[in-house]
Amino acid sequence: MFLEARGISKFYPGVKALKGVDFAVDAGEIVAVVGENGAGKSTLMKVLAGAIRPNEGTIKVDGSEVSFSGPIEAQSHGICTIYQELLIVPELSVVENVFLGHLKKKNGILDWVTMRREAAEILTRLGLTASVDSKAGQLSIAEQQLIEIAKSLSRKSRLLIMDEPTASLSKDEVDNLFKLVRSLRDEGIAIVLITHHLHEIFQICDRLIVLRDGDYVGASTIDQIDEAELVNMMLGHAVNNDTAKHRAVVQRDEVVLEARGLSRRPDLNGVDLALHRGEVLGIAGLMGAGRTELVRALFGADRLDEGTVKVNGKLAVLSSPRLALEQGLGLAPEDRKSEGLILSMPIGQNTTLPSLASHCGFFGLDLQKESQAAADLCKRLFVKYSNLNQPVGNLSGGNQQKVVLAKLLGAGTEIYLLDEPTRGIDIGAKEAIFDLIWDLTSQGNSVIIISSVIDELIRVCDRIICLHLGKVTNTYDREDFDLNRIMLNAMGKNVDVSEVSQ
Ligand SMILES: Nc1ncnc2c1ncn2[C@@H]1O[C@H](COP(=O)(O)OP(=O)(O)OP(=O)(O)O)[C@@H](O)[C@H]1O
Ligand SMILES: [Mg+2]
Repeated sequence: MFLEARGISKFYPGVKALKGVDFAVDAGEIVAVVGENGAGKSTLMKVLAGAIRPNEGTIKVDGSEVSFSGPIEAQSHGICTIYQELLIVPELSVVENVFLGHLKKKNGILDWVTMRREAAEILTRLGLTASVDSKAGQLSIAEQQLIEIAKSLSRKSRLLIMDEPTASLSKDEVDNLFKLVRSLRDEGIAIVLITHHLHEIFQICDRLIVLRDGDYVGASTIDQIDEAELVNMMLGHAVNNDTAKHRAVVQRDEVVLEARGLSRRPDLNGVDLALHRGEVLGIAGLMGAGRTELVRALFGADRLDEGTVKVNGKLAVLSSPRLALEQGLGLAPEDRKSEGLILSMPIGQNTTLPSLASHCGFFGLDLQKESQAAADLCKRLFVKYSNLNQPVGNLSGGNQQKVVLAKLLGAGTEIYLLDEPTRGIDIGAKEAIFDLIWDLTSQGNSVIIISSVIDELIRVCDRIICLHLGKVTNTYDREDFDLNRIMLNAMGKNVDVSEVSQ
């Protein structure tokens, strides 16, 4: 075995993140670590990578026991990690990013010639066409991820840990990434993969282990388990995911939000859309199609070049998020770390931030009322926490995402703009979020939802629009939903209806 961990425990005040977990991975295999949000997956990976010290347990590399003082020492044993949130420095060039932390020197001076040559070789191997001198921040997320892999390869990685690498990628990008990961495995690199998209585990992994609430639940080779059994191991029960339940057809008699000719060049080029009371409207499109820009513009976060928006039939001035909030709009942004949450602030205060005014009494903020409200909101979204006073940054990735949604619920929102609300969310919590969306809309609220996973849109939406290069290319009603057709359309291919149905 390349790496073997035994009896790993990690305790935080009030939380047992890992309780005596065993884990092993060998050269030339891909092992998945599976579990709900907060199960302890990232914590286990951070222990293996030397980023945190376990309270108990031993780690062996190539049969001899090690005790990492930090990530650098783990890296010297060939253990490299691509974290849930990428660590690319956008202002630096590709080659600078690749060699960040282990710059090469010759006779005491930086050896850019060698570094540029080696970086270029690695990029070619990864199939990346970008120049080593381009700024990393100008690359797409998929390309930035490849840069992270390039960083590991430049360190002669023997174990590559990937924590939710596919969360922000389109299907094609995932396929490309997996092709690369397979070839790395075939070269003898050990790989650990974390993903909430269970089909990906069956697509690429050789083995899996399951964690629940910090406990080791079990392990299996991939051919000895199916998705239903895996879900059962993860959650302790099955999930009900019948398509769209028994949702009544939405009466489209009242338009709550109407946009005409929205343009913000080059991202949006004349978008028209109408959202009806009680409706769930999906936006499908590739990265760069203008999806995020559209909801940000509706929320007043970015200025428009042209276009008008009506809310409840009245021309609306949405020049700032504050005005949008006042008119009942709420946005759950895509990037929770930089826009959705204040990471160092407690979970409770993050949750009630947009609704503070309603928790004020005669003598100012009523703290008891506020914390009760926060607890209620977190409960509705199944946020897993030990104490509302913990900084929200301590929560697991998926639970941070739930807090972003909880915030909106408390803010008296009537029109929900949800940008990738299920990113990083486990399969059980995803169902709960869909139920919540249906609940909210049956009470007369309306939802616009963006997701890169078109199956999810098909499941939860009443209507889907496809966006390509900042324009609406097509609209589908529920009875016309068809995965392939929507996918092609979102890619900008104009599909003829008769052609597809043949
Ligand atoms: N620095 C910390 N302080 C306190 N608690 C923490 C800290 N880091 C993690 N935890 C807790 O440890 C538990 C496990 O978190 P971890 O991030 O490993 O979950 P995860 O399985 O990766 O979940 P997700 O799928 O949501 O990313 C969670 O309950 C989390 O709140
Ligand atoms: Mg995690």
